[in-house]
Amino acid sequence: MRYVSLGEVPPKRHAQVWRGENGGRRLLVEEVLGYEGFSGNESILYHLHSPCRLDQVGGFRPIVRDEWVPDAHVHRLANTAPIEPGGDPVGGRRLLMWNGDIEVSVAKPTDAMDGFYRNGEGDEVVYVHRGTGVVRTMFGPVPYREKDYVVIPRGTTHRWEPADGVEQHWMCFHTPGEIETPNRYRNRYGQLLEHAPFSQRDFHPPAALETVDETGEWTVTLRVRDGLQTYVLDRHPFDIVGWDGYVYPYTFNAADFEPHTGRFHLPPPAHQTFQGPNFVICTFAPRMLDWDETAVPLPYHHSNIQSEEVMFYAEGDYAARKGVDVGCLTLHPSGLPHGPQPGTVEKALGAKRTDELAVMWDTFRPLRLSTLWRDIDDPSYAYSWNPDRAGEPVAGGANGGAPQGATVTGPSA
Ligand SMILES: [Fe+2]
Repeated sequence: MRYVSLGEVPPKRHAQVWRGENGGRRLLVEEVLGYEGFSGNESILYHLHSPCRLDQVGGFRPIVRDEWVPDAHVHRLANTAPIEPGGDPVGGRRLLMWNGDIEVSVAKPTDAMDGFYRNGEGDEVVYVHRGTGVVRTMFGPVPYREKDYVVIPRGTTHRWEPADGVEQHWMCFHTPGEIETPNRYRNRYGQLLEHAPFSQRDFHPPAALETVDETGEWTVTLRVRDGLQTYVLDRHPFDIVGWDGYVYPYTFNAADFEPHTGRFHLPPPAHQTFQGPNFVICTFAPRMLDWDETAVPLPYHHSNIQSEEVMFYAEGDYAARKGVDVGCLTLHPSGLPHGPQPGTVEKALGAKRTDELAVMWDTFRPLRLSTLWRDIDDPSYAYSWNPDRAGEPVAGGANGGAPQGATVTGPSA
């Protein structure tokens, strides 16, 4: 991340900063918000009031995860499109999968948030598949639009405000680690390298600060210790008059990802966008395909013997891919090889470009599935590489074993 400064920031850290005149003169409250003790990235914020001030301490409720343990270990396909919209932008998130490094939920909020939210135990990324609006944060407002990755560092008090009447459909990621751009894209000073698929100009922090100096009653829900703790404040949490540093929320739009391609096929790390602990997030952007006249423009079969591979299909013409539409997810778990379905390689030979957009996350540790995945699972996907069994459900699959699709062609990773 680059250095950003908004509002009133004094020339020296940790020195007296006064605001106001005569009887209203007051000393600002400086807060250092940083990672890794005092060794990681940090920002320094100047409050009108102490950020420690609580009016009431509310209740704590643990996070409950409803797990689905399938009878069979197979490749899986699910569709998020039929999931009914509902709930608010944070409480309405519905868990799809998780492990100790990452949680992934789908959200289609229709309701306004009640108060503010702060994640005290993890960073968040929200991929905006559908929707526009603004995330109001203590660092300033962050407008969002379709194809944005909205990255919100832990400790950021914020509130999602989707635009009125606009359909929202998000994929939400939580990690107890840090969301970062990949190390290999950065030089030893942190600046993004020339060959990185994006530059600092593609990352959009808040452009202005909104300072609210009001007395009233505001609820803040803090995610911490695997639960949700509520507090009531009598000072508005956006009482910051200035901040600077390297920690702040920002957006990066998938359309700004500059894809890399080769004379022959490049593997998914060429599409990496973010890194986290034991996982990566990649953007498969519309791109020219492998250009050698003998190239196979689809991925070779591969066995990710150490990782789980999940793909969310965000945009593109999937008419030739029965069963894989926009909004679908594929899960190719560890232990099994996967690749293009029969016939698709021959069909793709000579193709020059693809207009598909997909978001992929690979985890090194196994993923657990929720009952929501069970409800949207297509049990016929596992047999889709065998034309003799195309459309047959896997025994013990979800949806009562009813097949949902015919032949399903392969993902592009
Ligand atoms: Fe793959």
